[in-house]
Amino acid sequence: MKEQLETVFEAYKGEKSELIPVLQHVQKEIGYLPEEAMKHIARFVRVPESKVYGVATFYAQFKMKPRGRYIIRVCKGTACHIQGSPKIASKIEEILKIESGDTTPDLKYTLEEVACIGACALAPVMMINNDPHGRLSPDKIKGILDSYE
Ligand code: FES
Repeated sequence: MKEQLETVFEAYKGEKSELIPVLQHVQKEIGYLPEEAMKHIARFVRVPESKVYGVATFYAQFKMKPRGRYIIRVCKGTACHIQGSPKIASKIEEILKIESGDTTPDLKYTLEEVACIGACALAPVMMINNDPHGRLSPDKIKGILDSYE
């Protein structure tokens, strides 16, 4: 991680105003913002660690926990909800043995619930990374998950 941070820091001057771009860049490199990385970032841009945590927790774009290779986003918008998205989310939780918001221990999947993703005609819908999967039913979930290596 140290090397990754050093590479990122080379692109900046180490000024307060760079906090958000540095956080974004580090997250892009590492995939999330480990506590250790935030300490280094605080020193680098010369702000208190509490400020770095404050900013990182305020913006939804910043992730504090490692994320999976595949991000599963189950739509919880109204159309999907009516068509059974809670059952879809429950089925995924049951198969992966995680709860919404969590990542499997092998870092393969992260499960999230999101607002309408604009494909209501296909409700209930989920995305796995950039792939949309629509007209879902709980019995289709296992096959879909198994198609991701
Ligand atoms: S409500 Fe799910 S895609 Fe719109």
